[in-house]
Amino acid sequence: MSFVVAIDGPAGAGKGTLARRLADHYRLNLLDTGLTYRAVAHALLDFGLPLDNVSAAETAARQVDLSALDRDVLSAHAVGEAASKVAVLPSVRRILVEKQRAFADAPPGAVLDGRDIGTVVCPDATVKLYVTASPQVRARRRFDEIEAIGGTADYDQILADIKRRDERDMGRSDSPLKPAADAHLLDTSEMSIEAAFLAAVAIIDDAV
Ligand code: C5P
Repeated sequence: MSFVVAIDGPAGAGKGTLARRLADHYRLNLLDTGLTYRAVAHALLDFGLPLDNVSAAETAARQVDLSALDRDVLSAHAVGEAASKVAVLPSVRRILVEKQRAFADAPPGAVLDGRDIGTVVCPDATVKLYVTASPQVRARRRFDEIEAIGGTADYDQILADIKRRDERDMGRSDSPLKPAADAHLLDTSEMSIEAAFLAAVAIIDDAV
């Protein structure tokens, strides 16, 4: 079995940055599985199709090419919101999970981040991290990110969006967001990116 680091947690907890740093550090492949759900949502939005059109969503999921996920196109807030709606469809999840597992199995191993990596996609992962931060801290980080690139942001609106997305991701019946029983919890509310990275490396080095 290959070396797999599974990272789960809610939107804005810092999983993405951490996953990138860890993949670099351990020289592993990297997959942001949120992009796969975003790609399905983006295809439906592009065709003007409703997000609960199961057969169109399945077709879009089959067409997802893990090597051609365009972060710039898929990063829009509206796409993330739509992704959490297509992510409740069990048949879409099955199709995407199969692709994600194949990615994880390929040498030399991988870091995958998402919502169900430790619980469903890679239950036998070498190390599982559950990365979280309070909704207020996550909203503040998002707010700062938008302001930093010259945009205008509404903190209360961002906080409300984060809470709604958490509810949808934690409340769905298929593969809800929750820590795996054997996951290491990492609360980054009071941590810098560097501190979170060092804490994760300590956990991983200790586990292997
Ligand atoms: O992480 P990101 O914000 O890009 O994910 C978008 C949405 O995709 C999440 O809100 C979640 O509903 C869904 N998702 C999922 N399972 C994953 C990754 C993402 O359900 N493994």
